[in-house]
Amino acid sequence: MTSLFEKAEINGLVLKNRFIRSATWEGMAADDGGPTSKIVELYTRLAEGEVGLVIAGHAYVHPQGKHAPRQLGMDQEGLIQGYQALTQAVHEKGGKILSQLSYGGAYLSKSRVEHDPWGSAGSGSSLRKCGSQG
Ligand SMILES: Cc1cc2nc3c(=O)[nH]c(=O)nc-3n(C[C@H](O)[C@H](O)[C@H](O)COP(=O)(O)O)c2cc1C
Repeated sequence: MTSLFEKAEINGLVLKNRFIRSATWEGMAADDGGPTSKIVELYTRLAEGEVGLVIAGHAYVHPQGKHAPRQLGMDQEGLIQGYQALTQAVHEKGGKILSQLSYGGAYLSKSRVEHDPWGSAGSGSSLRKCGSQG
């Protein structure tokens, strides 16, 4: 039987074990979506604690798709340096890190974000405002 402590490989990504931190929004990102020192510390501690793979909390790819306050974002080049530092910090502790890209779409709630969310109209490809939700 495969042990949790055995190496694993996911599409070429080699993990030292099978402990994976599921993507989890922490509400710890900076206002512009960049990783803060709190996130670096949290993910570093997870890697130190022998978590083989940390999946970062979901990151919006467009400000209009932001789902929650202090959510990670990946919508501007200015954030690259912060993510490089985060990745390096996790690697130095022997862990691997992945990003989960997201667009909040129809699941956005105006009670949590200040913009008018845009979401899929269902079957069609057009977009509709869904700012009346929640
Ligand atoms: C506060 C919170 C934030 C979460 N953020 C994400 C996320 O960013 N992406 C995701 O795919 N799942 C997210 N989840 C789901 C978790 O990653 C996880 O799949 C879920 O809590 C079930 O895990 P469990 O069966 O170990 O309880 C979140 C869950 C919670 C409670």
